[in-house]
Amino acid sequence: MPTFEQIVTVATTPKEIAGMVATDPGTLAWLMFLYVNWPATPGTRGVPDPAGKLGQLPTVFQTWKEAHEVYLAGGAAPPPWNDGGPSGPVTLSLGEIDGTTLTDVNGNPITYTVAMNQGTFDYLVSRTFYGWPGQAALRSGGAAAVAFPTSAMEIKASWKVLDPIADKDRLDHYITAEALLPPSSGTGEPTKVAVGLTGLHIISKALPNWVWITFEQVENPATTGVQAKFTIDPAVATTNDRFQRLLAGTPLAYYQANGLQTEFVAGGQPTLLANTQIETRFQTSSSCITCHALASVSTGKQARLDFFELKAGNLTGFTGMPPTTPFGPGPDQFSALDFVWSMREAKR
Ligand code: HEC
Repeated sequence: MPTFEQIVTVATTPKEIAGMVATDPGTLAWLMFLYVNWPATPGTRGVPDPAGKLGQLPTVFQTWKEAHEVYLAGGAAPPPWNDGGPSGPVTLSLGEIDGTTLTDVNGNPITYTVAMNQGTFDYLVSRTFYGWPGQAALRSGGAAAVAFPTSAMEIKASWKVLDPIADKDRLDHYITAEALLPPSSGTGEPTKVAVGLTGLHIISKALPNWVWITFEQVENPATTGVQAKFTIDPAVATTNDRFQRLLAGTPLAYYQANGLQTEFVAGGQPTLLANTQIETRFQTSSSCITCHALASVSTGKQARLDFFELKAGNLTGFTGMPPTTPFGPGPDQFSALDFVWSMREAKR
């Protein structure tokens, strides 16, 4: 088992990450997963606790700022990083980015959260990108391109309501959280529920085009009824076995890396990476890096680039090298947002 120091050193040192991407992507994926799931130091956000034991809550990523704490009504500036202490119950959002909802076998919706570390947050604040005016300013001449620091990280998580009866044999197989489930009708009060993590996207700006990693809970096919439409690289599968054995007795043993992506194309073919819980219906056209390269802003007819195209009646993701022509200074062209799509949540 890697030590606390090894996990933190790799996860926070871009040179270590860049080296491992080439030599051992599976182990890198797991070290990043262990870093964001390390227990957090009480009373502060985002600091792993050297005395923590894997499986204790809240984890580091659970103390990062959720998107709704940053992109505030009216584009207002968010309070400083540690103000108000770590978040209370997580606020879930319904629906996948293709507008569909995944329902688990108990009939409850799978829900989502997006959160950022301090490197990401401080940069967004320094450029007032938390609101629409700051992003629109990218369209005036001479604005510096969006460029997150190498310390930037973000996650997107998917959650399932844990039913004390239907899920009684697997309650300890999940990273859990207290959460607020929005009413399915869209109006009324949210319900407080216990949720378990079914999927976790992790990204790091250690490389200029970021490092793209995704994990999911191994019982998802049975509990959410979704089958994977991809095969896990054999080296990553071997690494999954190794870490699952090392982590036996903790909820983390019930997770697997689906893979790690750093290139648009490999061996002349577009690279793909997907999570059954987050890209459920477009797994076979899911390229994290290509879709996120389209993260954009414009003050023309359309505020953001489309990230799906309709093919044979299905919403299909873009794969391979991203187009360059939509980006430019023209009135209906776009400025790139350095791969961070949740910036589209900024309010006017
Ligand atoms: C077809 C487009 C598309 C694909 C493919 C995609 N994403 Fe995203 N992603 C989005 C959008 C849009 C958001 C904005 C948040 C939301 O609405 O859920 C997002 C949000 C995120 C976030 C939160 C930070 C941010 O950039 O806003 C992370 C982390 C993330 N995705 C990682 C991944 C990973 C890892 C993969 C591949 C396994 C992936 N995404 C595949 C479109 C995509």
